[in-house]
Amino acid sequence: MIYTDWTICNKEFSRKKKRSKDALFTIGNGYFGVRGFFEEDTEDVDSFGGIYMAGIFGKGDYPAWEGMSRELCNVTNVFRVHLSIDGEKISVKENVEEFSQLLDMETGRYYRTYVYTTNEKKKIRISFERFASMSDKRLLGQKIEIESLNSDIEIEVGRFLDSNVKNLNLKSCEPLPIQPGKNHVVERLVKDWSINTKLDDADETILAFSHKLSDVGEVAEKKKIKDGYACGEIDRFFLKKGEKKSFWKLISAYSSKDEEGILEDRFLNSEISYEKAFEEHKKIWKEKWKISDIKIRGNKEDQAALRYNIFQLLCVCPEHTDKLSIGARGLSGEMYEGCVFWDNEIFKFPFFVYTNPEAARKLLMFRYHTLEAAKRHAKRNLFEGALYPWQVSEKGIEQTPINGGAYYAIHITADIAYAVQQYWNVSGDDEFILKYGAEILVEIARFFASRVDYDEDIKAFEIRAVRGPNEYDVMVNNNVYTNKMAIESLKTAERALVILENKYPEKLQNFLKKHDVSHKERMTWKKIAENIIIPYKKDMSLYLEDDAYLKRRPLDMKKAKPTQKRIIDTTIPYEALPLYQVTKQSDVVLMMNLFPHMFTKEEKRAAYEFYEPKTAHDSSLSYAPYGVMAAALENKEEAYKYFRKSAYLDIDDRQLNTISGIHFANFGGTWQLAYFGYAGISENKGVLHVNPHLPEEWTEMEITAIFRGNIVSIQINKETIRLSLQKSKGMLIVNVNGIEYQMTDKNSVILKER
Ligand code: IFM
Repeated sequence: MIYTDWTICNKEFSRKKKRSKDALFTIGNGYFGVRGFFEEDTEDVDSFGGIYMAGIFGKGDYPAWEGMSRELCNVTNVFRVHLSIDGEKISVKENVEEFSQLLDMETGRYYRTYVYTTNEKKKIRISFERFASMSDKRLLGQKIEIESLNSDIEIEVGRFLDSNVKNLNLKSCEPLPIQPGKNHVVERLVKDWSINTKLDDADETILAFSHKLSDVGEVAEKKKIKDGYACGEIDRFFLKKGEKKSFWKLISAYSSKDEEGILEDRFLNSEISYEKAFEEHKKIWKEKWKISDIKIRGNKEDQAALRYNIFQLLCVCPEHTDKLSIGARGLSGEMYEGCVFWDNEIFKFPFFVYTNPEAARKLLMFRYHTLEAAKRHAKRNLFEGALYPWQVSEKGIEQTPINGGAYYAIHITADIAYAVQQYWNVSGDDEFILKYGAEILVEIARFFASRVDYDEDIKAFEIRAVRGPNEYDVMVNNNVYTNKMAIESLKTAERALVILENKYPEKLQNFLKKHDVSHKERMTWKKIAENIIIPYKKDMSLYLEDDAYLKRRPLDMKKAKPTQKRIIDTTIPYEALPLYQVTKQSDVVLMMNLFPHMFTKEEKRAAYEFYEPKTAHDSSLSYAPYGVMAAALENKEEAYKYFRKSAYLDIDDRQLNTISGIHFANFGGTWQLAYFGYAGISENKGVLHVNPHLPEEWTEMEITAIFRGNIVSIQINKETIRLSLQKSKGMLIVNVNGIEYQMTDKNSVILKER
């Protein structure tokens, strides 16, 4: 990979790695996710493209807990291109030179180019560019340029909308062979410039795709193409040696699920050009980067890799709605059927909280809109309140197959309470809490109050039969992560009600009445929260992952994990793993990161030193939390080691499964490692803390935080920390390396020696 500050570029074309690179070069705008697939004619699965739309699913094959199951749907291939030179069809195999595929993250543009040699030794440079508009969520753009390098040629360029696609079904870690998945289209209407498709999902969703093609000027022949699946145009023309020609097209999509309805004629009748659309798109990217960027000096590769992680978070967020959230692999692949997991709140969400609170609020609204489904889920499992499912659909329905044991991972419910609290602390958005957040918190507290068991012997509450973040221990008692998160959920609910009582007494009274929350119930939450057991070994200052962790057999990690492959896929099966002291992914360490002000340095060090050698990192959710903790412990070497693993996880296909989609939780984790770990940002009691630990490899970093309506930029180098207020909204209290300051007006600056 070749890096500049704003680009990553792959110059090696390999058939074997192509599909994982397709995922890596995904672009998006929250409405569309488009893999970096090749537009020109290809074979088998590759000819189906790889375009996904937020909230667009086809019928699934597994049994869901309610209604019909669903899976992410690969929609019409709107970028399909046919190219032939002197009658020879171009299809990219290992027969190309000067290949390069590049992501320009500053402007959200994907570019690919190569030189193709025909059987007659004619050389042609072919280049493609595409973008998913940030200024108009429905819009995609494509540009093609063809240059004849050494001779005169006759060329045919066909540009299509092609609905003859299937799901890619790239769910395995092995690149080949792959059986394509389902075709989710049950009906098609092919028109001159549009295709309408009806999907096989429960909502019978209609998608309408239209395209506008640039005027190609004088050509030898122009053919309109329309069959049962595709429509488009083929242009035939001549190029002399050294001549080039470029084409563009713009594509728009409407869905029957959109509030606006289907307005394809509006797009087709509009006066819109590629240049203008791209300019508008660039403007929004510029705005986004102003706040979201993390600037690094001292290491160009790290700069680009970190920006890649941030770029993908910006590309995937469905900012146009508050009814959807972000799937584990976003809109970059079909793995996990496009479902939303706990890693949404714990890994990705903080990025939005600190850089785009409006988007963070919308992501939480998804959990509000699915609260009723969570209440039904609690009820059917014989609990009270709301039990948020493990792997949910856009409607909030559990998609882990029934009897898959997902319901043991109840920490997801507490993770959502944590996110509500985090959003409130950082944004100060009381209105959200009053209208929506408090209700979520109350129902979560009700769930935990019904899920704990009182143990007479130890005179404490236990949480039994759970699966913590360490998913290799399928069912344990008192997973410390779960217990701590449950305690905080119960406390948060009560604390929220107290705050609202003081600030908005009347509104709160109405709320309590409406939701039937009594003083007695609140006191019960308090009592439970104060008495849930936390497994802790005092003489080691060590928080124990669960009740039995120390009793398990020791494991030689080098033998158990000799390669990058997961332990379960190589040496020890699932059935045997719970016998060993092995942690699949960060668990205790993650818990401590979530409450950085609640644990002593000694406890943090003890946890790091104890669990790090026992952690297999068999999930993408593991490297970054270890990096955050290593940074807090000022273990610079370890922190940087984990930064490299996390920031380059998909770039290097470290876990050998990028093919099935890029890892959005890890993108959030990488951001956290830079932001919480290196810049040392945290929130405590309404104060923004800055306590940086810059790695040796970087000379400077710069971040921006939105904290309670204030916008503050923070520059950190080896000698100083400089905070400057870009936008002021009341008083901002900051704590820089242990010293508290107040920032009041727009031009406030704090300069502190390190
Ligand atoms: O939620 C995670 C889980 O913790 C580990 N496997 C992948 C899931 C989706 O990201």
